[in-house]
Amino acid sequence: MTPSLISRIHQFVGQEVQLQGWAFNFRSSGKIFFLQLRDGSARVQIVYSKADVSEETWSALESLRLESSVRVFGRVKEDARAPSGFELDGLGLEIISIAADEYPIGKKDHGPDFLLDNRHLWLRSEKQWAVQRVRDTIIMATYNYFHENDFVKFDTPILTPTSCEGTTELFEMDYFDMGKGEPEAVNVGTGKAYLSQSGQLYLEAGIMSLGRAFDFGPVFRAEKSKTRRHLTEFWMMDAEAAFVEHVENMQIQEGLICRIVHDVLANCQHELKVLERDTKPLEAVQAPFVHMTHQEAIAKLRELGSDIGDMDDLGADDETILTQQFDRPIFIEKYPAAVKAFYMKRDPLNPEFVLNNDMLAPEGYGEIIGGSQREDDYETLLQRMHEHNLAIEPFQWYLDLRKYGSVPHSGFGYGLERITAWMCGLQHIRETIPFPRLINRLTP
Ligand code: 4AD
Ligand code: MG
Repeated sequence: MTPSLISRIHQFVGQEVQLQGWAFNFRSSGKIFFLQLRDGSARVQIVYSKADVSEETWSALESLRLESSVRVFGRVKEDARAPSGFELDGLGLEIISIAADEYPIGKKDHGPDFLLDNRHLWLRSEKQWAVQRVRDTIIMATYNYFHENDFVKFDTPILTPTSCEGTTELFEMDYFDMGKGEPEAVNVGTGKAYLSQSGQLYLEAGIMSLGRAFDFGPVFRAEKSKTRRHLTEFWMMDAEAAFVEHVENMQIQEGLICRIVHDVLANCQHELKVLERDTKPLEAVQAPFVHMTHQEAIAKLRELGSDIGDMDDLGADDETILTQQFDRPIFIEKYPAAVKAFYMKRDPLNPEFVLNNDMLAPEGYGEIIGGSQREDDYETLLQRMHEHNLAIEPFQWYLDLRKYGSVPHSGFGYGLERITAWMCGLQHIRETIPFPRLINRLTP
């Protein structure tokens, strides 16, 4: 019999096939046995009739327990009532491994802690399956968009001697005795390394070779934030481009997000249905996105009753309120320099502000992208580093980029889990990553 994935059985209508997967549900009338099988590619029902199968097959069916792994033999037929349009007439069944009794995840509602404790099993549930497939589509859309727009994948390091986004969020670790007792050494004599918060600074070195580059990998933030938007380990995509300034930087971001939404809608209709995601708000995500400056955002928030100060950063609640005013993403541009990172270039028209943007996703999802034009002048950048009390020595290589053929350049980074949560319509980003790391969770 032809081995097949469930997702491909439409090619074998009327033929006998062999499937391999897990029994996620079953029921029996004593004469007819309905087996629900999933193999990762899709789900399908196999209907066995006691009169038509061998005694071995029937007793194997009767011995089944939830989540046992099995090999199924059957004939494919079209069935308009089946969710996929297909069903199998069961001919045989082999048990590969019988599951232990009482699969922990039942049909009743479990609390989030129970599900997270059983994350290794919860991942098999249909919604979790759908989330991972949407996540995969976002990753693919990102790679395709960048490769079609002349960006090269550039892998930045995870072990670093310095911070990128601010020292309060750094995970610190011992790094042999590197630099110990050597005050001149790169990491100034501490024997410490830090887990990367973003590959951006290294990507800036990469584009001086490749012109346009992006990275994609895990980053780490020791933030004590216990919110539905924060993980301590998450996946970031950073992009960077030489000769690109603030406005073009936002055009690249807009193109990327449109591409992601398009590909998710084109390839994940079934997954979105499983997730009960209303696709109308996603269909509304079209260029041009909304633009407003930080100052305009503050004015709008005050209009809506907030008492936020002129030079305050936007909090999660402020972002939520703003995104509820529009049906598409919002670029918030030109934040006060005081609330942003040292590397952002000042706005020449108003140097208290920087040439940056956050992108806020609609429906209350809030910040999904942070980006900016970078300071490209050696002396100015040095000055900023002093203002931020950064040790100069570990950043000398970064300053060097401004010494040898500096060019205007810009970039941005997105949080994969935040975009996945938005696409899937999830309330909390912990479900978007296979094994979430939170301030109070490191297992399984
Ligand atoms: O805004 P952030 O901190 O920007 C940077 O790290 C820049 N160096 C990126 C760049 O310009 N190349 O982080 C970028 C994005 C945020 O917009 C958000 O989507 C996500 O990363 N993010 C988080 N996602 C989950 N958990 C956290 N703790 C996150 N912190 C940031
Ligand atoms: Mg940010």
